[in-house]
Amino acid sequence: MPLAAAGALVVAEPSLAERISRARRIGTTFTRIYMGVRVNRFLARRVAPTDMSERWSRFHRESAESIYEAAIELRGLILKGCQFLGSRADVLPREYVEVLSALQDRVPPKPFATVRETVEAELGRPLDTIFSSFEREPIASASLAQVHRATTLDGRVVAVKVQYPEIARLVRSDLSNLRLLFRTVARVERDFDLMPLVDELAEAVPLELDFVNEGRNAERVAGFFAERDDIAVPHIHWDLSSERLLVMELVEGAKVSDAAALAKADIDPNDVSRVLVEAYCEQILIRGFFHADPHAGNMLVQASPGGPRLVFLDFGLAKELPADFRQGVVDFAAALLRGDATAMATSLVELGFETRDGKVSSLADLADFILATAQRIRTQAHLDPELAERLRDEIPDRIRENPLVRIPSHLVLIARVIGLLSGLTRTLGTRIDLVGAILPYVLPRPPKPPGPPHQPEL
Ligand SMILES: Nc1ncnc2c1ncn2[C@@H]1O[C@H](COP(=O)(O)OP(=O)(O)O)[C@@H](O)[C@H]1O
Ligand SMILES: [Mg+2]
Repeated sequence: MPLAAAGALVVAEPSLAERISRARRIGTTFTRIYMGVRVNRFLARRVAPTDMSERWSRFHRESAESIYEAAIELRGLILKGCQFLGSRADVLPREYVEVLSALQDRVPPKPFATVRETVEAELGRPLDTIFSSFEREPIASASLAQVHRATTLDGRVVAVKVQYPEIARLVRSDLSNLRLLFRTVARVERDFDLMPLVDELAEAVPLELDFVNEGRNAERVAGFFAERDDIAVPHIHWDLSSERLLVMELVEGAKVSDAAALAKADIDPNDVSRVLVEAYCEQILIRGFFHADPHAGNMLVQASPGGPRLVFLDFGLAKELPADFRQGVVDFAAALLRGDATAMATSLVELGFETRDGKVSSLADLADFILATAQRIRTQAHLDPELAERLRDEIPDRIRENPLVRIPSHLVLIARVIGLLSGLTRTLGTRIDLVGAILPYVLPRPPKPPGPPHQPEL
């Protein structure tokens, strides 16, 4: 097979025409759904047809399908955003979750010829001088890459993660489009500033496209859990990896959201949720560095004699927390326990929050609301669409008038992790006492947290 036309692998700036066509595709999909929501809301309020719930359901399914189509076509960041949506069983209507969760690992793959070109260009050698077998059909294909099963000539059974050739360019064009979209949304809906999200993406995405960075992140997190049998990370084969090619140990296991597969392997979903929460407490609250993309496509579960073993994949998105972050969380937790709104407001400042008027007193209003909400979530174990909706309606006017204008970007990622975990525990149908699980990690002098003791790295 001839080698790649070298030009195909060079990352160029997106052309204007390409940017416009992607922007238009995003814009029309977004506008159609937005208008649909308004029309249906109007119908529900003014006409109240008896079949309104079927109408909503039909509308949601059609919207989900048009988002799905756009995501498949555009890939890149758009696909990543839609994967996130598809993971939010806790807050989104069922129709979106059903349709969009397919984006986590079942995107139509690129042809094998493209894969071969990338592998050979990255390693500088023909495929069959490295691998004794290389499956043409990928195990999975997702937003930035597809993954093939292969065996090296020296007998290692590996997963080969191959970056889509044009992806870096697409992603850059998406970033500028998102900036534009969010700036427009910010004019219409002044309640919330989404810019920190784009800034976070702009910082994270180039890193995500560098598989050497991903491999290093994987090894760092693997180190945190070296002593635990129930949390694992695939071993990286550096001799065969590069910026656009990651070769690692092949892991077998059930998809974490696949209830039937878990049941078949005799795995209790409650144990899975517990290990998951412990893994995140350890990373975020003790180590200050974490895997920031825990959707169901990025984890596998294996049965082992001592209970389930959770394998984390895909360390493209990982985050280092600032050194004073832990103290902010500890103070926040202490205030939460004491029901002390003033102390909580101070901890929110410490964590980097800021409201529109910049006063601590408006953060105290927020703290009051958080205290009341925490009580309710605690008794409910996870958010669900009804509770989320009710909470949105109950946000006091004082908070609405004076919304948060600054949320530190690392907190955006933590919120994302919490959202994904909450969605996953809902999918698994597990009930865990989140506050109870987190407390040992945030008490100033923790009684030995579950799992082996670790020295904080912060
Ligand atoms: N080491 C591995 N062993 C087995 N399957 C893997 C491995 N790495 C990735 N996969 C599969 O490939 C899919 C895509 O890999 P991932 O690293 O998540 O790529 P992306 O960054 O594009 O999401 C995963 O959802 C998983 O199903
Ligand atoms: Mg992934």
